[in-house]
Amino acid sequence: MVMKFFGKMVIVGCGLVAVCCWSADRRFVLPPETVKFKPGANVEVVNKQCLVCHSADYVSMQPLLPRAAWAGIVQKMREKYGAPIPAGQTNGIVEYLGAVYGK
Ligand code: HEC
Repeated sequence: MVMKFFGKMVIVGCGLVAVCCWSADRRFVLPPETVKFKPGANVEVVNKQCLVCHSADYVSMQPLLPRAAWAGIVQKMREKYGAPIPAGQTNGIVEYLGAVYGK
């Protein structure tokens, strides 16, 4: 008698585990990607050099800035925040920012 009851509990228990595992396998839909840089010339350099420390939101949240202002920001990233951007790549990055996020 006791064993029969116990056997039923085991069966119910297994069923619950199965249901839990099955529902855990749901697919989650992520919000659209907003942390990437918009396409443009030199975007691969920018992706490589500017996403080391923060997302592209830092750039896209800025107002459209003239090229010279972007040059200043890139310089600040290098000198103040220590971004390891090779000197030969700053021009390409500034060109990109001025063209895609510039005015
Ligand atoms: C070594 C790390 C590092 C790298 C690499 C880096 N940044 Fe930053 N960036 C920072 C830090 C730190 C801040 C300031 C964060 C804060 O104030 O919360 C910042 C802030 C910013 C901001 C916000 C405005 C401002 O002036 O503070 C912009 C725009 C920005 N970064 C652009 C860039 C671009 C473009 C690149 C690539 C050329 C880049 N960052 C690469 C560290 C970095």
